[in-house]
Amino acid sequence: MDRIPDYSPVSKLNEANDKIKILVVDDEEGMCLLLEDILKGCGYPIDYFTQPGQALTAFKNNYYPLVFTDIKMPEIDGMALLKEILAINKNTSVIMITAYGSIENAVECMDLGAFNYITKPFKSGEIIAILEKAVERINLIRENIQLKKKLESLSATGITLIGKSAQITGTLAFAKKIAQTNFKVLITGESGTGKELIARYIHTISDRRHKPFIPIQCSLLPETLLESELFGHKKGSFTGAHQDKKGLFEEANQGTIFLDEIGDINPNVQGKLLRFLEEKEVKRIGDVKSRIVDIRLIFATNKNLQKLVNEKQFRDDLFYRIREIEIKVPPLRERKEDIPLLTRHFLEQISMEIGEKIEIEREVFDLFMSYDWAGNVRELKNCLASAAAMCNDNRITVQEISKILLLTHTDTPYHEQSLSYREMKKKMLEDFNRKYINNYLAENRGNITRTAKSLGIDKKNLWMLIKKYNIDCSIYK
Ligand SMILES: Nc1ncnc2c1ncn2[C@@H]1O[C@H](COP(=O)(O)OP(=O)(O)OP(=O)(O)O)[C@@H](O)[C@H]1O
Ligand SMILES: [Mg+2]
Repeated sequence: MDRIPDYSPVSKLNEANDKIKILVVDDEEGMCLLLEDILKGCGYPIDYFTQPGQALTAFKNNYYPLVFTDIKMPEIDGMALLKEILAINKNTSVIMITAYGSIENAVECMDLGAFNYITKPFKSGEIIAILEKAVERINLIRENIQLKKKLESLSATGITLIGKSAQITGTLAFAKKIAQTNFKVLITGESGTGKELIARYIHTISDRRHKPFIPIQCSLLPETLLESELFGHKKGSFTGAHQDKKGLFEEANQGTIFLDEIGDINPNVQGKLLRFLEEKEVKRIGDVKSRIVDIRLIFATNKNLQKLVNEKQFRDDLFYRIREIEIKVPPLRERKEDIPLLTRHFLEQISMEIGEKIEIEREVFDLFMSYDWAGNVRELKNCLASAAAMCNDNRITVQEISKILLLTHTDTPYHEQSLSYREMKKKMLEDFNRKYINNYLAENRGNITRTAKSLGIDKKNLWMLIKKYNIDCSIYK
């Protein structure tokens, strides 16, 4: 039976507390005991002090992410204590306790960086509510620090692989596990999802990092060239082979070879590759001698290799050989929580490149979250680069982004669809109308009256077209 979740504040706090230790400072011991009672009741360890000086020493020697302090105290008052605490750790959440008559002081403390205040006398419910908010903030800060650390350690490898989604963090953890092994890895995923970046990451954290990482785009090379690029050739082995040439497998000795678009290699090269995987020896074209090489192989494809195997376009024995480990990189639309992080990262990159800070309208994030990113991370990166180039005052707005996304969105080319002339013409017209209306809607931020006016048609007709073309106006608002 499913457990019924308990949403009482106390249970929520218990879930999140993860040893948040609280410091309570009040010159009245009764107040300290009362707070101790409430906070301990919520499951938090606390230390209390009636002398602020002692409290400060304890703060310096311990880690208290949360402090409750009275304002009016002899020796050191709450405001001075607040300043000292924040100077030691600006992330501390300090809650000021104030008598009803001195709220002004509390507000002043908020300006100095206090997290919140509470007036005496208070009910335990008020303390719990404020505690809940503070815990939320503390957990957010912790998450942020962890993310930063992760990014720093990734950047230390020279590769910045952004993402906080379970899919990406899981992939990175898995990549770390297998980096030191020699298993052949097949990275699959749609175009632009980051397959090559992951391959580079694996190489960079492996013991092979000081040796070459050689990426080869299999689809770009004609059959004979690919074979000689990979395996090398002997002088005179074919027309144009004027001298002996080492292949990339030899060049990459002790390093990593990344064979991209592996689904595109033809049967002949497939056979040679299989032999190499079995024997770990390279024979240059036209040569009788074999050379042993030690390389790690990573493959990638955005095709469905299993389907190619079923259709007999890809050898099944090779397929099983190269897929000792498979890493599936999910499309961006299935890990949308990575979009804001990636956006900020690319904007920072672009700003650094052009030497000026590029800002972005908050609403762009909403549009990004609702877009389907057929071109994945690469499309997002390119979209931001184009927007940065065309925006005014270094500020990217929804209008620029909508224009770019509509212009770059590529459906299957008309000539590749098996349509009759009449059907093709109809589809082209419809696509044109849809884009045309979308452009105007974007310019007018989804406002129907203004869009109708710019298009020179009446509102009713515009509504009919919006319905007909199944346009979602809300993304422009
Ligand atoms: N998680 C990520 N963090 C930062 N940048 C990323 C991330 N994923 C992808 N990129 C960037 O997006 C672009 C596309 O990534 P990459 O070339 O690795 O994709 P791919 O899956 O190999 O694409 P294709 O299938 O078209 O070859 C690159 O510029 C890469 O640096
Ligand atoms: Mg690639």
